[in-house]
Amino acid sequence: MDKVVFDDGETLPLFIKPKNGQDSAEFLINWIGENKELMRKKILEYGAVMFRGFKINEGVEFERAVTQVDPELCDAYRGTSPRKQVPGTEYVFTASEMPPFYPIPQHLEMSFLAAPPRNLYFCCLVEPVGPGGETALCDFKKVYDEIDPAVRQKFEDKGVMVVRNYKKNWSVFNDPTQLKGWPEVFNTEKKEDVENECRDTLIDFSWKKNDGLKLVNKRDAFENHPDTGDRIWFNHLQVFHWYMIPDEFYRIYKRVGQLRYLIMSWIMWFIKLFFLNVIGPMNCGLHTCYGDGTEISNAENKHIRDVTWKNMVFNRWKKGDIVMIDNYRISHGRQPYTGRRSIVVAWSKPYLRPSLREKSE
Ligand SMILES: [Fe+2]
Repeated sequence: MDKVVFDDGETLPLFIKPKNGQDSAEFLINWIGENKELMRKKILEYGAVMFRGFKINEGVEFERAVTQVDPELCDAYRGTSPRKQVPGTEYVFTASEMPPFYPIPQHLEMSFLAAPPRNLYFCCLVEPVGPGGETALCDFKKVYDEIDPAVRQKFEDKGVMVVRNYKKNWSVFNDPTQLKGWPEVFNTEKKEDVENECRDTLIDFSWKKNDGLKLVNKRDAFENHPDTGDRIWFNHLQVFHWYMIPDEFYRIYKRVGQLRYLIMSWIMWFIKLFFLNVIGPMNCGLHTCYGDGTEISNAENKHIRDVTWKNMVFNRWKKGDIVMIDNYRISHGRQPYTGRRSIVVAWSKPYLRPSLREKSE
């Protein structure tokens, strides 16, 4: 314990820093190995733990550090961001290959699935130099607590439905929320394998013309935290609704004051109108509505996003940072940036949502 410094501020995360110049990757990896139970407790207590000031330069070192706490990582990714495996590692990937100007709103990793990863891990290999580029964090227990009780009850009663429409191949003419083709999502071109996985993971599927694939799943909007039992806002509405795209750009403009984000907000507002009113919400690349198929209103979307943004914490990345996150409570998202930046990610094995666990017992 006394070989490092614990620095818990008012907000996320708990920082752990070197002491007496002991800042090598080997020291940190050994220290985490000797204190793995303590680290698991701290991740649970604070929601996120950040190791800062240690000399982590490679994805391999990050992987070794994380496996001290979480020996069984996962390499199957069923999320929507394009990712690439980091050479020399088994379980480390680039966080997102999406263009730097594009924001990623707050979400719990893969929370639209029946079994999202229990924990999530990021490491900064190249820190961003310009404004932006933070991986902001947000406590989704606070989001649950602060949602208007009437809105909360509506989500409690109805749950949420997630709709995804995939084409076989990605193209610039696709819906801009459609970042991959389904073979890339499922890591196979065999339709039978896709169908089997959908059945196993409680996703309704239907094949469309030109090899399109529609995926629909209904889930509870909230989840009981697996360890504390706290109610958590637990769904992908912030990411999977056209409302978010112009709204996210506008909020980023208000935060950093750069005109290009205001212009992007206006452009996306018009594109949003086209997709929601001409293409139709159920035919968009991504859409979220209530579980009974009724639409979530603009006022409700705005309210959820107000509460989320109010609770977001922005920490500037420093090279070598490792953050360990309780993915059943603390969300993450990416602020847009310019210039170089390299953030890599690893995640735990799938962990069946407690609400589905109860239903299957
Ligand atoms: Fe993510």
